[in-house]
Amino acid sequence: MIKISRLNKTYNKLKALDNVDLFFEKGEIVALLGPNGSGKTTLLKSILGLVLPESGDIFVNGKNIKRDFRYREMIGYMPQTASYPENLKVEEVLKIIKDIRNKKEYEDELMKELKIEEMYCKKINALSQGMKQRLSAALTFLFDSDIIILDEPTAGLDPASADYLKMKILKEKTKGKLIIVTTHIISEVEELADRFIFMHEGRVKIEDGIDKLKVQNNGFRKSISNLFKEYEWS
Ligand SMILES: Nc1ncnc2c1ncn2[C@@H]1O[C@H](COP(=O)(O)OP(=O)(O)OP(=O)(O)O)[C@@H](O)[C@H]1O
Ligand SMILES: [Mg+2]
Repeated sequence: MIKISRLNKTYNKLKALDNVDLFFEKGEIVALLGPNGSGKTTLLKSILGLVLPESGDIFVNGKNIKRDFRYREMIGYMPQTASYPENLKVEEVLKIIKDIRNKKEYEDELMKELKIEEMYCKKINALSQGMKQRLSAALTFLFDSDIIILDEPTAGLDPASADYLKMKILKEKTKGKLIIVTTHIISEVEELADRFIFMHEGRVKIEDGIDKLKVQNNGFRKSISNLFKEYEWS
């Protein structure tokens, strides 16, 4: 569904992405892991066309994204930090985005569970961090996209919203969607992902299935935290 080939992105002299080769298939949940600054957000933004890599290619459903921007309609994206027009009300933001995407109805369950209606009259600049996250989460799933990309989706969410979001992610997977998620919460990786990709200094260091780590002697949590420790000092 998504193929990434020899992708490189440099900021000044810093290699944010260093020859990244990856493949993502439909119907899987992939956790993108790595220490702060390892290139996860840069990789996700490259897939969305929000960051332009110097070299390399990204193919979505076999088409090179450099040649055709329409692929973006297939993706629901929850950014690590969202920015919406500060002076608009939530209701207005939803209407604008709905009009752009030509969507008539909202998914009631999504709006109810993420308590969106109670924020309708609030301006964006009056939203708490968690409220903004809930709005972003709702927008991500609103258009029934085939590919869902979530950059630290539960950071700052209250437990009820976080639980709903996790349930929603698993439900969307059963519809055959591809879900790519970054998180620093190890229990979420265990609960959600089929496999993980571990990045360090812009490079893909490890790609593996979650089940394999679950059966290791020292357990899943320990195996993952050992990975972080190993690369912290390398
Ligand atoms: N716009 C930018 N200008 C300059 N450097 C940048 C820019 N965006 C990212 N970087 C650098 O690129 C590297 C990768 O950043 P990125 O945001 O992709 O990391 P990350 O893995 O998502 O980290 P985190 O876990 O903290 O979200 C970092 O060293 C960061 O400082
Ligand atoms: Mg990030």
